[in-house]
Amino acid sequence: MSSVNLAVLLVVGLLLVTAKQSMQMSLRNPNAEIESSNCKLGFIHFGLVLTSDNSEKALLDSGLFVPYSENPYVDIVGRRFHIGYLNKTPLVYVKTGTQSVNVATAVQTLLLNKTFRISGIVFFGNAGSLDENVLVPGDVVVPEAVAFTGVWEWEEFRAQNKGKLVFGNYNYPENGENLLGTAAYENITLYSPSEEPKEVFWLPISSSWYKAATEELTKDLKFKECHSGRCLPGTAKVVFGLKASTSDFYVKNKAYGDFLLEKFNASTTDSASAAVALTSLSNGKLFVVIQGISNIVGVESSNPEIGYIASHNAFLVATKFINSFRTPGLACE
Ligand SMILES: *[C@@H]1O[C@H](CO)[C@@H](O)[C@H](O)[C@H]1NC(C)=O
Ligand SMILES: *[C@@H]1O[C@H](CO)[C@@H](O)[C@H](O)[C@H]1NC(C)=O
Ligand SMILES: *[C@@H]1O[C@H](CO)[C@@H](O)[C@H](O)[C@H]1NC(C)=O
Repeated sequence: MSSVNLAVLLVVGLLLVTAKQSMQMSLRNPNAEIESSNCKLGFIHFGLVLTSDNSEKALLDSGLFVPYSENPYVDIVGRRFHIGYLNKTPLVYVKTGTQSVNVATAVQTLLLNKTFRISGIVFFGNAGSLDENVLVPGDVVVPEAVAFTGVWEWEEFRAQNKGKLVFGNYNYPENGENLLGTAAYENITLYSPSEEPKEVFWLPISSSWYKAATEELTKDLKFKECHSGRCLPGTAKVVFGLKASTSDFYVKNKAYGDFLLEKFNASTTDSASAAVALTSLSNGKLFVVIQGISNIVGVESSNPEIGYIASHNAFLVATKFINSFRTPGLACE
């Protein structure tokens, strides 16, 4: 919240020295830039990141996104960056595609383009629940941290240094030895503009935005519980304070899901959040992750509409979060 407020303050100061006419012009035409003696002003945008067609459909079906009348999109690195308002808040949204490299490429592009002036990244997408006592389909999670759990050192059979994941423990029907040995979970190098590169496992969600989310997102949310005549078994809720895991492999296996929950306290699994987190942190940008639960790992769903309901509910929370900020903000380029 602080960066937007700061920018607003900065602008108030600058507007005092900027001609009134040019300000009115800019409010009518948000793409226009005001040239002042020392800087070029333009709208600050939220960066809204999504990976899937379902998520984009939820956004478009809502009717809340209104593209700018001039230059409503730009195509870069094979992605379309849509520029407009979400309920009057200026933002740029992009569908990245799945897997960490695709996600990171699109997020980096969004952050690098100076004309977008991105204040931070709001990511929403679907995830699997690893803990069905806490998270069921339709629920929305705002995790406090996310880790890449697909980065392994795969140890030799009977290696001295054993990794956390011991394949022999999962022999069926009885535990025993397994030539696959063990896999050790590796840290990842976090590069950032303000610090030396460091090895980390958990990537924490930006504390100011996480705090804003916990304050803003608890009231007045009306989640979708039915779609095309298929309904959730219970009432959907938003859950904070959990941890999320990301890997480039899609986790459907219950034994592995239980392992992630037990060893890391990870309550969800997806294939995008950690890539959004790492890219945002590397750029020194604020970010938040919002996950709609679309399945319970290891449980076959009988409701084909759940993926869409999950996307819709996550989008609803993302919108509430974005609209809770005082906007529009303006800033120097
Ligand atoms: C940045 O985005 C603008 C549209 O806002 C586009 O015209 C420009 O080509 C983009 N720059 C790069 C380097 O992709
Ligand atoms: C990973 O980083 C954490 C600090 O974030 C550190 O405590 C831990 O020892 C590191 N693990 C490995 C295997 O390097
Ligand atoms: C998981 O969370 C529980 C309860 O908060 C805690 O007692 C436990 O130490 C945590 N385990 C790990 C591996 O972080």
